[in-house]
Amino acid sequence: MAKCNLERNSEGRRQAPLQKSGFLWGASTSSFQIEGAAQIDGRGDSIWDVYCREPGRVKNGDTGGIACDHYHRYKEDVGLMRNLGISAYRFSLSWPRLLPKGRGAANEPGLAFYDRLIDALLEAGIEPWICLYHWDLPQALHELGGWQNRDIAGWFADYAALVAHRYGDRVRRFATFNEPCVFTLFGYGFGWNAPGIADAAALHSAIHHVNLSHGAALDVLRAVVPHASLGAIHNRQPCFPTTTNPDDAAAARRLSEYWNDAFPYPQHFARYPSALGDAIEPFQKPGDMALISRPVDWFGLNHYSPHYIKADNNVIGATFGAPPSGVPRTTIGWPIVPDAFRDTLLDIDRRFALPIYVMENGTASDDKPDSAGHVEDAGRIAYLRAYTDAMQEAIAAGADVRGYFVWSLLDNFEWTSGYSQRFGLLYVDYPTQRRIPKASARWYADLIAASRISPAKLVTESSTDLAMTK
Ligand code: FCB
Repeated sequence: MAKCNLERNSEGRRQAPLQKSGFLWGASTSSFQIEGAAQIDGRGDSIWDVYCREPGRVKNGDTGGIACDHYHRYKEDVGLMRNLGISAYRFSLSWPRLLPKGRGAANEPGLAFYDRLIDALLEAGIEPWICLYHWDLPQALHELGGWQNRDIAGWFADYAALVAHRYGDRVRRFATFNEPCVFTLFGYGFGWNAPGIADAAALHSAIHHVNLSHGAALDVLRAVVPHASLGAIHNRQPCFPTTTNPDDAAAARRLSEYWNDAFPYPQHFARYPSALGDAIEPFQKPGDMALISRPVDWFGLNHYSPHYIKADNNVIGATFGAPPSGVPRTTIGWPIVPDAFRDTLLDIDRRFALPIYVMENGTASDDKPDSAGHVEDAGRIAYLRAYTDAMQEAIAAGADVRGYFVWSLLDNFEWTSGYSQRFGLLYVDYPTQRRIPKASARWYADLIAASRISPAKLVTESSTDLAMTK
């Protein structure tokens, strides 16, 4: 595989160049889901460590204690990425690994781990994309009110400053948050994820303080990292009512505002969507919107499926229902509707007028090695082919999509599903931690190689054709 053209900065360290042209094919992971080493080298607890210990919260009582042991196996994992031919890798930093109490004294062994990972990626010609927050809030900060405490904007900015000063010499791509709508709604509104709160005021204060923290971190990253390329990673998924009942239609509109707009609207248009306005009001202060709506360089999208919504008595009056019969679903139950992905990309392009990076897309499937030790995940290949084809239709129709990252590089801890759902291109045999590239990994490597050979084909031919041109 050709190495990306590494530049040297003034201190002679390797630094990834911004990709000025060419489409980025990548893969994504997150710290809590893969790293393990939860009690090693000074890492503090996150809210997910504590949540996993509460009986009945996570399937089979699974925890992130060992996960994929990526903390110790990162070199092997980077080698496997190199074999795939990916040009970018998006991972998150564990805030409690860097700052065990969330603020105050930094943890040098934790900082050194990401030094090693970043250097290995650059050596392999893979551009590191850092996400600051993928749901693993330091427990010590949760005990001070966490996202419900307005002071968190300052704590998050200080964490961003530590990261920027330490890694900004080698990394230029930073995302502030991954899926803020999911961790606020599920963690503070519905009580389904850590920290398990279901309360309207908790939800609305968390939403506003996450938005404030986003703006505060952008200011720090811009000030410290030259040529920083910054964004946030949002879900956008069409919300359809499950029935023709007007209550379900109203619920779908309402959930859509919480899911799709609660973060992108203030961040890009300096206003909350109407469903949230009054509830957020008590937490707002003059000047907040100016901070929240600092410019970003790209729009990060996570998209797996549309949602089918029905009315409910919960804090927002809406919840998830079943898709119409006949809509195919993945093993985790998510509908497979590639056209909704194409339409979502076109919609984002129209609304936000920014380069789009698809930062997560992929599928769970019931993967097992066969007697020859191969993992033949034809369902995942079909899903990825259909979704990358849909993306190419959006590009052909004018959407400014610059990159696509598969979720996920490897099977991992899927939150409350524990290890029961496998999303990886690489199969992980948890008892031995052996990685086995699945058939989908070979398919993805072929797609990447074919698009390198002939980038023009990317938008004019289907990936089926591309895979066969190799
Ligand atoms: C997304 C999360 C990611 C993973 C995938 C399957 O919502 O960002 O951590 O769980 O879903």
